[in-house]
Amino acid sequence: MLFPDYRPRRLRQNENFRRMIRETELSVDDLIYPIFVIEGKGIKNPIPSMPGHYQFSIDNAVKEVQEARDHCIPAVMLFGIPDKKDPLGTGAYAKDGIVQKAVRAIKAKVEDILIITDVCLCEYTDHGHCGVVNKGIIENDATLDLLARIALSHARAGADMVAPSDMMDGRIAEIRNSLDENGFEMTPIMSYAAKYCSAFYYPFRQAAQSAPRFGDRRTYQMDPANSLEAIREVTMDVEEGADIIMVKPAIPYLDIIYRAREEIDLPLAAYNVSGEFAMIKAADKLGWLDGKKVMMETLLAIKRAGADMILTYFAKEAARELTS
Ligand code: PBG
Repeated sequence: MLFPDYRPRRLRQNENFRRMIRETELSVDDLIYPIFVIEGKGIKNPIPSMPGHYQFSIDNAVKEVQEARDHCIPAVMLFGIPDKKDPLGTGAYAKDGIVQKAVRAIKAKVEDILIITDVCLCEYTDHGHCGVVNKGIIENDATLDLLARIALSHARAGADMVAPSDMMDGRIAEIRNSLDENGFEMTPIMSYAAKYCSAFYYPFRQAAQSAPRFGDRRTYQMDPANSLEAIREVTMDVEEGADIIMVKPAIPYLDIIYRAREEIDLPLAAYNVSGEFAMIKAADKLGWLDGKKVMMETLLAIKRAGADMILTYFAKEAARELTS
């Protein structure tokens, strides 16, 4: 394929040629929309570092899910912000916990959209870690039972899928067993399988009030330097019974998405996280780039790398672009 015999520009010369040879297509079917839910009524607190996103009380969360459904988005992901926190994060698995109540309210009012719930302790623990803390150590095995309880309580409330984001070892098997034993063998698990210890979660931790009060998450979330380890994590979760595997964050980890896609045949999700969203919004606000174009290019790149679905705060905006 040498010039002048081959001229790549021949097939780029107009939009119909470009359409014909386009390899990747982004669709509204690929999008999952994260939503933050807080106690109270009539509340819609703007999240400063995430323009267009809010902490919604349940009544407003119902409306937001309706809006997502009206945008033809197939699924939302719920994050709960409880009123009270304690060392064992009991609010996370309480029958009348914020997520459990939100799921019931949404299920009663909105049809035709999947409700995925984030399964983690960090929003509910007073220390802000994703596990049980004992003498400053985040304990693995003692946390597993709590995670299984959270997942089960979400399933009981009506969640269509649970998504553990804690990064404890062995949690997928524990959650699968507990769901199966209690008659929820049809509830799928979307595992945050390769979740990195990333500075890109900063806006989320403001939004969800979930920053650790001491230390950091480096003993459980992955080191950004590693990629073989991601394959081990992903493989382990596949063997433990995950239905969908996730890589998180997305843009700085496109190589991991690509590798995971090569290694496994399960559906693959990527989380375009809060910091990735905030950077584009900030630059757009400054007039330093065209936010809409960068958004579409970003989502397309994540898809091209191998993701089948994308969790993104851009979901509504992107859906508008894709369906207009
Ligand atoms: C909870 C959780 C986090 C995110 C999703 N689930 C934060 C964290 O691990 O500290 C981050 C999502 C985002 O930044 O958009 N463990």
